[in-house]
Amino acid sequence: MRDHHRLGRSAAIVALSIATICASPYAFAATNEQPPADVDWPLHGLTAHEDRHSPLDQIDRENVERLGLAWSFATGSRRGQEATPLVVDGVLYATSTWSRVFALDAKTGRELWRYDPKVPRDVGRKACCDVVNRGVAHREGRIYVGSLDGRLIALDAKTGSELWRVQTVPKGGDYTITGAPRVVGELIVIGNGGGEFGVRGYITAYDAESGEERWRFYTVPAAPGQPYEHPELEMAAKTWSKQSDWASGLGGTAWDSMAHDPELDLLYVGVGNSSPYNREVRSPGGGDNLFLTSILALRPETGRLVWHYQTTPAENWDYTATQHMILAELEIEGRKRKVLMQAPKNGFFYVLDRATGELISAEKIAPINWASHVDLETGRPVETGVGDWNDEVRYVMPGVPGAHNWHPMSFHPETGLVYVPTLSNVWPFHADEDYAYVPGVMNTGEDWPGFHDALRWIIPFCNPAHLTAWDPVEQKLAWKVEHDHPVNGGILSTAGGLVFQGNGAGFFAAYDAATGERLWRIETGTGVMAPPVTYQIDGVQYIAVLAGIGGSPAINFANYTNDNAGRIYAFRLDGKDRMPASGPAPGGVVSAKPRPLDAEEVDRGRALYASHCSRCHGQWARSTGWLPDLRYSSQAVHENWESIVIGGTYSGKGMASFADRLNAEDARAIQSFVIERALAVDSIAERVQAWAVDNLCLPTTWVAD
Ligand code: HEC
Repeated sequence: MRDHHRLGRSAAIVALSIATICASPYAFAATNEQPPADVDWPLHGLTAHEDRHSPLDQIDRENVERLGLAWSFATGSRRGQEATPLVVDGVLYATSTWSRVFALDAKTGRELWRYDPKVPRDVGRKACCDVVNRGVAHREGRIYVGSLDGRLIALDAKTGSELWRVQTVPKGGDYTITGAPRVVGELIVIGNGGGEFGVRGYITAYDAESGEERWRFYTVPAAPGQPYEHPELEMAAKTWSKQSDWASGLGGTAWDSMAHDPELDLLYVGVGNSSPYNREVRSPGGGDNLFLTSILALRPETGRLVWHYQTTPAENWDYTATQHMILAELEIEGRKRKVLMQAPKNGFFYVLDRATGELISAEKIAPINWASHVDLETGRPVETGVGDWNDEVRYVMPGVPGAHNWHPMSFHPETGLVYVPTLSNVWPFHADEDYAYVPGVMNTGEDWPGFHDALRWIIPFCNPAHLTAWDPVEQKLAWKVEHDHPVNGGILSTAGGLVFQGNGAGFFAAYDAATGERLWRIETGTGVMAPPVTYQIDGVQYIAVLAGIGGSPAINFANYTNDNAGRIYAFRLDGKDRMPASGPAPGGVVSAKPRPLDAEEVDRGRALYASHCSRCHGQWARSTGWLPDLRYSSQAVHENWESIVIGGTYSGKGMASFADRLNAEDARAIQSFVIERALAVDSIAERVQAWAVDNLCLPTTWVAD
């Protein structure tokens, strides 16, 4: 434990640093005058500007090859790890699955406390993309976490004991929280997710001390006839048709990104996708559908809108604008401009004037076929028509995973580059002709079984992930690293001239920030999606990152080969700790006893599986590894199939009962499909398919315009 005197001093420095960060994102290093200088990672994006670029330079291009493990910590989870840890006064605060919080000695990895909000496990069914959490907020001795079931909880940073909690979503509704809360002055601001499940998006600000609600901003209007909760909704309502699918809530959840400019006194919020995706059924004859897929600039004191910019008017493809936003100063055409930069899912990289919302520039950062360009006069994308999928199947780039998903990027003020974890992918959009909103399931307007079948043949196109170094002034590529795996990791850059990123293949690597040359890497044994952070204690710089794959299996096509044990790793120069060994991947033995399979039943099971099971257990019953591969179910599981699927006997493990959607016959049909897949595991066709998934990386530009 650290002594009180030191804690007191560092706490003052951190409080000061948060204040000075407001004036200059880099000032906090300078305020720390006494050697050895301790440098924290106090806010989600390091600074309120969320640039994720650290001034620390002890680890640099010359010595990075000496990087070794300082310590590691097991999170006790085999599912997705997406958190950005905070480091304050020598304590590292991280979150893991089911919104659990860990406080560790950042120097040794020793556990100080843990907090489990005890999220009811059946809530897992409401999470589109795994039971992940992206981190905590810290303010004046308190830690704040949003729980998957929609609570905002304040903890004592020293002990982890609960100080207060507020229910920030309707109880029993279909909202979830996976994003990190943000500190904005005296407020804690939190959004929510659940866009596909029938929710109406909003963001709420609470008093950091008492938890009292200060304001709430809805991102989409309520059904006609309902009062407008705030004046902006009157404007928004004009962009929706009266026949909109009001029952679906319309989506627009603000599930991840925020940034804050204390000087301009603006809070920026990224708004998510629509519900359902298909605009022809969501708002027939409607307009832009504000404020879906928009960036909002709000006055933090009041929650009133100052400006908005919609990246994808009348969105149709799950093109969220919830991707990470960075505030920076750039010299553009001889003028210093305060900008906001974002690479939303839709494939463009945007530079906006963050005082006014004016679009400065937008260029393609990945393969795109739904729009040709963004018109700088109107600020609107020019659609090609390739993305109109209401009447026929369309292969759209980027697909639902986006050209850039939640993985944070970074901005290096010296190279002038933004390092973006980009994705290339194509998605078969099939309209569900019988679409009608159903509570508690994914309401995208897509035909899932059709999608599932088409995707089977897209899988070999392997959707590679990239580390893209982008020049935001010239709006062009500086360099790019292509990973041989579709799962990407978040980014950290440092004044040591380095860019750190992990990937789904289990590597964690450092690249030269100027050239992209790989200078160091280590095999963690587990895929890395989370963004790394860096901090300094007693004169030693550390790099920490969480490992563990999960999230959306649709993004996560590739299989992997280990037990996916979630861990936090911390590295330092000459670190000598041994990397923990990873276990083998589960599964591998088919125990299903063949029973006579009825072709029609298998077919029905295939469709039911696609609609209800594939998003967790993998397309075509081929798990990506983070949840059981049902083809390898034990005999006991097969015998208890109905009680697991309908009876809910595994609900405590996160496998909720499907009794509200399926009956015993349906469960049996799904089981028949799974058995059919299990028996095919060793067939030549399956082996070719498996080989293709693991080895082929055909260019995704094959359907380009
Ligand atoms: C929201 C995610 C999710 C969905 C959707 C889902 N499951 Fe599960 N399933 C789980 C989790 C979590 C487990 C337990 C994993 C563990 O043992 O830790 C599980 C376990 C199982 C098991 C037991 C496997 C074993 O080897 O222990 C079966 C069988 C199963 N699910 C069938 C289904 C079927 C059939 C569907 C579709 C009707 C389905 N699941 C949909 C999350 C999901």
